[in-house]
Amino acid sequence: MTANTKPSVPMDSELMEQHLEKLSTELSQCYEQIMLLYNLSTNMNLDQSNATYLQLACDQLTQLVPVEGIAIFLEKKSDSMKRLVLSAGSGLVAFDPMMADILQMHLTAELTAGKEALLDSQVDRPFKYAWPDQVRNILTVPLGPADKMMGFLVATNIVNKPDFDSTDVKLFNSVANQCAVFIENGRLFSDLKELFIGSLKALTNSIDAKDQYTRGHSERVAMISRWIAEHLREIRPLPEKQIHYIYLAGLLHDIGKIGVAETVLRKQGKLTDEERSIILAHPRIGASILSEIPQMRDIIPGVLHHHERYDGQGYPEGLCGEEIPFGARIIALADAFDAMTSRRVYRDAMSIRRALTEVEKGIGSQFDPIVARAFLDSPIDQLWKMIQDGFIETWNYSNFEEYGTKAVGALIR
Ligand SMILES: [Fe+2]
Repeated sequence: MTANTKPSVPMDSELMEQHLEKLSTELSQCYEQIMLLYNLSTNMNLDQSNATYLQLACDQLTQLVPVEGIAIFLEKKSDSMKRLVLSAGSGLVAFDPMMADILQMHLTAELTAGKEALLDSQVDRPFKYAWPDQVRNILTVPLGPADKMMGFLVATNIVNKPDFDSTDVKLFNSVANQCAVFIENGRLFSDLKELFIGSLKALTNSIDAKDQYTRGHSERVAMISRWIAEHLREIRPLPEKQIHYIYLAGLLHDIGKIGVAETVLRKQGKLTDEERSIILAHPRIGASILSEIPQMRDIIPGVLHHHERYDGQGYPEGLCGEEIPFGARIIALADAFDAMTSRRVYRDAMSIRRALTEVEKGIGSQFDPIVARAFLDSPIDQLWKMIQDGFIETWNYSNFEEYGTKAVGALIR
């Protein structure tokens, strides 16, 4: 031992115990924080809405850091104006849209000044900013990078200690980053989906346009098929994914006509045997085109069998009753209904009343009774109006959920 080295003092056992206990608490908190972030990353399922994921983030965060109020506000664009919308949370009071704007302004100022968050409290000193009366302390972190902020996460009045600390700031920032990644992934996914559906529509429109009397036919068949599938849900369970496949199969049902000459499609007189066989081949050609695309595998049965009849008198395979894939039975009805109510080169469009009578007559012979009954029992007036208005894009999804219910409740309260 050199002269400068101090002798080590053995730690008092009571002190050691306290030290160990503190260390163990910190470790356990650290573990819980890691588990929270792990849960959020493993729950990044893009099938769920933003509201569901953001609500999960708020709920899990408040289990770890109890607060009186928590919320996530997101920027939404409407009529070229940006506004902040309460998208998830619970228990937050007195934060109306105007207060949210003020909060975002203060947060931006703090971030510009090099801070990680807006942390304001009246525990040791007066508030830096003016807050509603109920607020004792407040922590706000951005969703996304400061220059591309898509919203923010805010919490008020921490419960188990006097004030938020730097560990809370770090945890809130990590959770907000996870939320931002989820939202951004969702946006990319939805852009891709739009691009995909847009490309399919462009393709089917070009096929429908070969004959002026079938313009818009594929989109209408897709929409009517989805309408029927949605109403069948009242009778039998039908997952959203399957409804989407039925919609896509409806959109692409006539893709096999891509190789059929316009002269054949537009021909007014009787078809020759060869022309007839070309037309009859379109379901198989369509299925064969789609078989090249692995992601389209599930919609092939709907395309291949959309001209089968319930009594087995259809084509290409003459399948009968339940042998016909379920989606194809729906598309067959949608296709026939649109054909009946559209003008053709050889006849005028049927009235809606007459077309519905024809559907009724075709139950059990041309059409599946359950599918046809669900269609006839649905509010056809609404569907007919949508078809006539061309309101294909404003479909009101029955399972659509934009904002968390808890958040909306908090806003009202
Ligand atoms: Fe067809």
